[in-house]
Amino acid sequence: MNAPYVHPKIGPRAAAFLAREHKLLIDGKWVPARSGKTFDTFDPGTGRVIAKVAEGDAVDVDFAVQAARRAFEGRAWRMMTPNERGKLIWRLADLLEQNAEELGVLEALNNGKPFATARDRDVPGCADLFRYMAGWATKITGETLGISTPGQFHAFTVREPVGVVGQIIPWNGPLAMATWKLAPALATGCTVVLKPAEQTPLTALRMGELIQEAGIPDGVVNIVTGFGATAGAAIAAHPDIDKVGFTGSSEVGRIIVHAAAGNLKKVSLELGGKSPVIVFPDADMSVAIPGATQAIFANSGQVCTAGSRLFAHKKVFDRMIDGIAQQASQIRVGHGLTDGSQMGPVISQTQMERVMGYVDQGRAAGATVTAGGNRIGQEGYFVAPTILTDTKPEMSVVKEEIFGPVLCAMSFDDDDLERIAKQANDSIYGLAGSIWTQNISIAHKMAQRIRAGRIGINTHGNVDAALPTGGFKQSGWGREKGHEGLHLYTEVKSVIVSL
Ligand code: NAI
Ligand code: MG
Repeated sequence: MNAPYVHPKIGPRAAAFLAREHKLLIDGKWVPARSGKTFDTFDPGTGRVIAKVAEGDAVDVDFAVQAARRAFEGRAWRMMTPNERGKLIWRLADLLEQNAEELGVLEALNNGKPFATARDRDVPGCADLFRYMAGWATKITGETLGISTPGQFHAFTVREPVGVVGQIIPWNGPLAMATWKLAPALATGCTVVLKPAEQTPLTALRMGELIQEAGIPDGVVNIVTGFGATAGAAIAAHPDIDKVGFTGSSEVGRIIVHAAAGNLKKVSLELGGKSPVIVFPDADMSVAIPGATQAIFANSGQVCTAGSRLFAHKKVFDRMIDGIAQQASQIRVGHGLTDGSQMGPVISQTQMERVMGYVDQGRAAGATVTAGGNRIGQEGYFVAPTILTDTKPEMSVVKEEIFGPVLCAMSFDDDDLERIAKQANDSIYGLAGSIWTQNISIAHKMAQRIRAGRIGINTHGNVDAALPTGGFKQSGWGREKGHEGLHLYTEVKSVIVSL
C-alpha cells in the first residue's frame, strides 16, 4: 500500500476512512472483488493516488444482482410499511449531515471541488433530496378510474416498485449523483446495484456505510466499484435487472440502450448538454453577469446543465464579455482542500487534455480566446476559466459538450424571438437554458420556445429537490428529482374488479 495521503485538512475520521480497505458492498457485507483486483483512485488536485478500491466486474455485479433480487423479494423490504421506509431514508439524510465534514473532505479530495462547496452545498443538498423523497414514500398512489365497459366495475391503479435497478453514475458530483439515483429508488421500494464512476468511488462507499448505519436492510443497496466497460456494461446487460438509470456521456447512453435491449429493461438517461444562456438588451447586468459566470464556471464547468453557449444581444455583448472575464479573473482556482478555493481542477488528466483539445480546436477554427485558454500550474489538472468569442455554430466547441470551464460566446442582433430561439435550439442537446430579461412577456415567450428540460428566467443553475431535471432531444430519457422522478422507479398496475 502507498504511504497514506497527508493533508492538514484531512481530519481523523476522513483519514480513518482512507486507511480502510475499500471493498464492494454486497448483501450487507463488504467483500473484495472476486478477481482480487483493485484500482487506484486519485486526487485530481495533485494527480496523486489517495486509495485503492476493489475492481468489481461482471462476476461481482452478478452477485450484487442476486442480493438485490433476494432483498426485493424478501419480506424485510417488501413488507416494510411506507412510513418505516421513509424514516430510514430520513435517518440516512441525518447521517449525511452529521458526517458532512468528513464527506466534504472526501468529496473535495476525490473530485477536486472546493471543500466548502462539498460540505455546505452538496451534502445538505443530498440530505434535502433524501428527505424530499422520504416524504414521498407515504404518498405513492394510484387513481380510481371511471369504467365505461357495460356491467359494474371498480377499477383503480397502483404504482409498484419497478424491481431491481442498476444505477451507473458519473464523477462530476459523486455524492449528488448517487443521491439523485438512490433516493427515489428507496422511496418507491426498489433495490439497487449502484456503480460509482471509476474516478470517484470514495464518497459512495462512505455513503454505503451510512446506509447500513441508517438500518436499511442488507441487499437493498449494493455498491460495485469498477470500470464502465466491465462492471458498467454488466449492469446494463444483466438479464435480472429490471431497470437501468444512467447519467453520463451521450456516447455511453447509446451503448446502454443497446445493452438493455436483451431483456428490454427500462432505461432512464441523463446525458450531455450544451445549454444556452440568452441575454436580452434590457437584462439587469448586475444579475446576468454573475449568473452567466456561475452558469459556466461552477464545478469547473463539469455540470450537465452548464450554460456553455452564451447568446447576448449586440447592445450588451461587450458588457457581458467584459463582466464575465472580470469575474472569471477573480475566481480563486485551487486545490479543493485549500482554504478559500472557489474552483477546483477538472477530474483527470484525460479530461484536462480533452478540454484543452477543444480550446485548440476552437482557436484553429478561428475563435478568439478572450480569457483563460490555458492550464494552470504543472501539478493537478487545473484549467483557467476560459471565454471563446468569434465562435460560429458549426465549430466543434459550439456543437459538442466540452464539460470544462469553457464558455462559447455569440451575439445576436435581432428582435425576432423565433430566430433567436432557432439559434439557441440549434443543438442535438436540450437539457437546460436560461433567459435574462426584465420583460416578462419576452421571458415567457422564450421559455416556451427553448426546447430543453429546464429553463431559468434570470437564473441558471438550480438543483432543488422538487425540480425535475432531464433532457429533450439527445440529452436523455426521463426526469429525475421532483415528483416526476418517482415515476422512473415505479410500474403502473391497473386492477379491475367485476362487481
Ligand atoms: P462516461 O459516460 O464514460 O462515464 C459515466 C459512467 O458510465 C461511469 O460510471 C462509467 O464507468 C460508466 N460507463 C462507461 N462506459 C460504460 C459502458 N460501456 N457501459 C456501462 N457503463 C459505462 O463519461 P466519461 O468518459 O467519464 O466523460 C466523458 C464525457 O462525457 C465528458 O467530457 C462529458 O462530456 C460527458 N459526461 C457527461 C456527464 C453528465 O452529467 N451529463 C457526466 C460525465 C461525463
Ligand atoms: Mg467514457
